[in-house]
Amino acid sequence: MTSDKLKTPTVALGTWAWGDSGETGDGYFGSPLTQPGLEEVADKAHAAGFPMWDTAVVYGMGRSETVLGEVLKRYARSDYQLSTKFTPQAAGASDDPVADMLQQSLARLGTGYIDLYWIHNPADVARWTPHLIPLLKSGKVRHVGVSNHNLSEIELANQILGEAGFRVQAIQNHYSLLYRSSEDAGIMDYCRNHGIPFFAYMVLEQGALTGKYSPENPLPEGSSRAKTYNGMLAQLKALTDKLASIGQSQGAAAPDVATAWAIAKGTTPIIGVTKPNYIDGLVRATSITLTGDDIAELEALADAANVNTRGWWEKEM
Ligand SMILES: NC(=O)c1ccc[n+]([C@@H]2O[C@H](COP(=O)([O-])OP(=O)(O)OC[C@H]3O[C@@H](n4cnc5c(N)ncnc54)[C@H](OP(=O)(O)O)[C@@H]3O)[C@@H](O)[C@H]2O)c1
Repeated sequence: MTSDKLKTPTVALGTWAWGDSGETGDGYFGSPLTQPGLEEVADKAHAAGFPMWDTAVVYGMGRSETVLGEVLKRYARSDYQLSTKFTPQAAGASDDPVADMLQQSLARLGTGYIDLYWIHNPADVARWTPHLIPLLKSGKVRHVGVSNHNLSEIELANQILGEAGFRVQAIQNHYSLLYRSSEDAGIMDYCRNHGIPFFAYMVLEQGALTGKYSPENPLPEGSSRAKTYNGMLAQLKALTDKLASIGQSQGAAAPDVATAWAIAKGTTPIIGVTKPNYIDGLVRATSITLTGDDIAELEALADAANVNTRGWWEKEM
């Protein structure tokens, strides 16, 4: 038994920031967000043909899923795809914490099924992966993937699902110009060789690679991302300037080029969208052409920045 092939979009839309309260400076991202603003984001994404939304229970402990469900209810369910996650660290104590967490996500998102359901991290691959099988059989979950797993953990998950006639249908890891551990560890080659789509998260390093933030204009004070990135913004200037200059020659901006780089590397970037005009950037990103020299130059500048942007929840690959 196998489920249908996943329809992989060119770009997916991330909603971690939607789990914040929406007040400036508050929460993980500290961006000002309003429901009408997010509805405008969704309308533009819908019009531009970007159907896939990524969320997780732990983004604001249900808040991101609830807000996303509210915003998407103006569209037919067949017009969009939902991607959400089981987070082992937030599991309850029932007989089947995965089924329970999924049920709560379905209720918050106002849907009967999830297009792409992930194990958020490899807390215990042998324990949690088998719980996906009944969910696939029931149709509540159409496709499954694993996130933050290293190569041997991916292979183990694939073996467990394979014994039941299913397989890992997508990988989701941190992958940006500044953080290429999945490439170095052979995970991207594995995906290519096995026809598994690789979803890249934090391609813009939570805003630090957009060129919009600098030591003079840092990330919102009080937010978690400010603590991670504000101290390295000066070192990123040569790279963000180069992203901007490549963009300028094609009528695009620095974040569009960073996104285009991830597409050129064979990934589906998941970009955190907080403002309607960011959707225009994604449209531009899908038509940017990067030469081999552009890519080599960007990667050399990224290496020269000499920063480590590994998230606190991530381990070495
Ligand atoms: N599986 C996992 O463990 C995991 C971990 C992290 C993320 N993710 C997923 O991946 C998604 C993406 O990661 P992320 O949201 O953390 O960070 P990201 O995509 O690297 O950066 C998002 C931030 O960049 C800024 N931005 C986005 N587009 C822009 C544009 N065109 N121009 C200027 N600024 C722009 C926005 O900041 P401002 O609001 O300040 O403008 C936005 O909040 C998440 O939302 C989530 O769905 C998964």
